[in-house]
Amino acid sequence: MDRKILVTGGAGFIGSNFVHYWLNDPSHSLLNLDKLTYAGNLANLAPFQSDPNHIFVQGDIGDRDLVRKLLEEFQPVAILNFAAESHVDRSIHAPGAFIETNIVGLFNLLEATRGWWQTQDSVFRERFRFLHISTDEVYGSLAPEDPAFTEETPYSPNSPYAASKASSDHLVRAYYHTYGLPVLTTNCSNNYGPYQYPEKLIPLMLLNALAGKPLPIYGDGRNIRDWLYVEDHCRAIATVLAQGQVGETYNIGGNNEKTNLEVVHTLTAILDEIQPRSQGSYRDLITYVTDRPGHDRRYAINPAKIERELNWRPVETFESGIRKTVGWYLAQDSWVQNILTGEYIATNYQGRTHA
Ligand code: NAD
Ligand code: DAU
Repeated sequence: MDRKILVTGGAGFIGSNFVHYWLNDPSHSLLNLDKLTYAGNLANLAPFQSDPNHIFVQGDIGDRDLVRKLLEEFQPVAILNFAAESHVDRSIHAPGAFIETNIVGLFNLLEATRGWWQTQDSVFRERFRFLHISTDEVYGSLAPEDPAFTEETPYSPNSPYAASKASSDHLVRAYYHTYGLPVLTTNCSNNYGPYQYPEKLIPLMLLNALAGKPLPIYGDGRNIRDWLYVEDHCRAIATVLAQGQVGETYNIGGNNEKTNLEVVHTLTAILDEIQPRSQGSYRDLITYVTDRPGHDRRYAINPAKIERELNWRPVETFESGIRKTVGWYLAQDSWVQNILTGEYIATNYQGRTHA
């Protein structure tokens, strides 16, 4: 199989990890289309600056003419759509960009893809894949005793982010049923690992702790997420691309349900062990702040389908993955310093008084 693919959003957290994963095989190549929003960072792609197997184009998935031109020139055998606005808190402060990229942008990407794909010969058309990377947040919130999300769980998105991703999943599905575009969709739980922008729980807590700043826990800290190390997610995506059934969706999770407090306690314990503070524990920095509006209580993924049908399982436990992650951030001083000069971190926490 030809391994030439188009990746969108490949300068972001999961996208850039996927670029590292994919290009580990020298027979692979990719075109990386990324708008470079605040979340896109070329430093995530530094090892590939002069790699002929990596072509980077700064641009918007919503720019149909650009996408069509790139498809005609590059002739990828697959498109993997990572590009999105991805942060729930931002979608509460300013939902417009989420509608723009996650719904309208995705629609334009699908239209450009459909227009080009329909002009290809039947062998190419059949082999082609459009893989859409989505989230477990589309399923809404679980009560403590509810079974974990399966691919049959009805959609029930609660934040503007989740609603925009749900819309995108429905559009992708419709392009399969209406036009026969060979699509695949993955719905994954919370990722963590290298290159994650520190607006998300784990890198935010880690970098705040190292800076001796408060660790802002929303509400009572007992909301539950199901954590997956990002490299395990990348391997799952590559597996779905190679073996997934066209038109199907696959839930991906780490079997790692943790409350936010458990996550932060694990992080602070690792830091206490490997980089102790001069006085007290990092845990002393925990501060309870006003809850996120509409905060989903619990997410949990049932990964039985991908395990059974595609033989994928996570390799990292939460304990091994979180240690790798802490080690990575501790070794990345210049990456971290560059990111921390950004505009968002201050704005989001300004209005959050102690609960
Ligand atoms: P991210 O915010 O770190 O990165 C998003 C990337 O998309 C950035 O590089 C950004 O510049 C780019 N981008 C944004 N708008 C664009 C546009 N209009 N055109 C082209 N590029 C654009 O996000 P992430 O955490 O890496 O998430 C990637 C995908 O995975 C998203 O679709 C997200 O919904 C999904 N997902 C994320 C998680 C998670 O825990 N982070 C879990 C499940 C699913
Ligand atoms: O479930 C998959 C989703 O996981 C992805 O689709 C999203 O792109 C990704 O951002 C993530 O969404 P969450 O809202 O679960 O992630 P976040 O890191 O923002 O928050 C995780 C939990 O931690 C959540 O319950 C809110 C809480 N939290 C978060 C921050 C940033 C805090 O208590 N304090 C904080 O400062």
